Amino acid sequence: MSTNVTVIGTGYVGLVTGVCLAHSGHSVTCVDVDKAKIEGLRKGVSPIFEPGIEDLIREGADSGRLTFATPADGWAPLIGDIVFVAVGTPQSDAGAADLSQVRAVVDALCDEADKDFVMVMKSTVPPGTGEALLRRHLSCAQADIAYVSNPEFLREGHAIDDWFAPDRIVLGSADPKALDAVTALYDDIESEVVRTDTASAETIKYASNAFLSTKISFVNEIANVCDCVGADIDQVAHGIGMDKRIGPDFLKAGIGYGGSCFPKDTHALDFISMLHGYEFRLLKSVIEVNSRQRLLPVLRLSRMLGGLEDRVIVILGLTFKPDTDDTREAPALEIVPLFLEEGAKVRMVDPMAPEVLIPGAERVEDVYDALAGADAVVLTTEWPQFTGLDWERVASLMSGSAVVFDGRNALDQKAVRAAGLRYVGVGRDGEHRGTVV
Ligand code: UDX
Repeated sequence: MSTNVTVIGTGYVGLVTGVCLAHSGHSVTCVDVDKAKIEGLRKGVSPIFEPGIEDLIREGADSGRLTFATPADGWAPLIGDIVFVAVGTPQSDAGAADLSQVRAVVDALCDEADKDFVMVMKSTVPPGTGEALLRRHLSCAQADIAYVSNPEFLREGHAIDDWFAPDRIVLGSADPKALDAVTALYDDIESEVVRTDTASAETIKYASNAFLSTKISFVNEIANVCDCVGADIDQVAHGIGMDKRIGPDFLKAGIGYGGSCFPKDTHALDFISMLHGYEFRLLKSVIEVNSRQRLLPVLRLSRMLGGLEDRVIVILGLTFKPDTDDTREAPALEIVPLFLEEGAKVRMVDPMAPEVLIPGAERVEDVYDALAGADAVVLTTEWPQFTGLDWERVASLMSGSAVVFDGRNALDQKAVRAAGLRYVGVGRDGEHRGTVV
């Protein structure tokens, strides 16, 4: 059955939601206040880099099921039977989720709605938000607005595959009819649907991201122990991951997690717990461990190179992970200033994110040009063009005793060493026995 759907916000979550629902046969209007974005989308240009998204934009436009609009002429004509809210909830200075964009959209819809609809919250909002919105905002509407929480679990770079093959679909509401309506939207997707109350759905989202962040910080702690005792984290992660209760995913050690979700959602969960008088100690440690991992390249290279003053350091990767143009909370953006503070000369390379410039650091187009005469190279993002470097050529370009710091444990360390370079990963060898931060 085809439903009239509105998606508000054309960021990663909203745009993927819109194009995928149109692909499933629904009639979708994607709305954004940013005129330039909407004009671009009408021409088939995606404002984000996400594999496969432009094909689905084209397909939706050709079929007539996908249209793009701004609310310039008011919200009422844009409101479908189901309205997804997918606007940003960035981290506020205090560490909380900033809900101002969500509130603005909800208020505008409430003020202008002239017919009943189901509001579906896709934006990540702290537990309790849905009920508070219903109490304070949605009750003032002229129309009957039902509310469903439907958190997203999409990974950037794999968002479309994740949409069509999710591990589960989570829907939370006090309104069974609204839950039925949203469940029906996902009819063509083979997945378990978890139907629950609003606060539980909201908490599932935060708990998932907090648990995955915990897994990463845990494996990073184990990697640091590996460095102390001379064990190998790849072997250890493989060994523990074979236990079905632990599982093999999210056990890759390195310089810590980044991105638009884990850092902000862990802080927001910590904040909301504190607000309720609860001290979430484990989560605080997860956040602290992640910050500490960022220091590793500076500490290790400083020691190995006998200080960083005037040393030439090449940073490979400015996005928070490969296959995305997203630099939010990318490790490199924290690590580069640390090297600069120590007096190093920094060159940065990335196949994406041309807008990223850091005062004092040089942006270089070609990776081999960047490596010429360098003292050390730090892999911050495991783009294939970096993991597949010709290490013999790299060694011929870099200075005599150059070091390769593999911040993602993604390089072939044998090939790096065979080329005559010094290799250091995170928990990958005993070279740093007893020298962990
Ligand atoms: C994440 C969640 O996976 C997704 O469900 C949620 O909706 C949004 O946040 P995303 O931020 O796109 O998705 O990236 P993801 O692939 O999960 O990686 C997050 C960060 O963790 C990256 O910085 C990545 O490098 C790091 N990571 C991941 C590790 O350091 N080790 C791992 O084993 C896995």
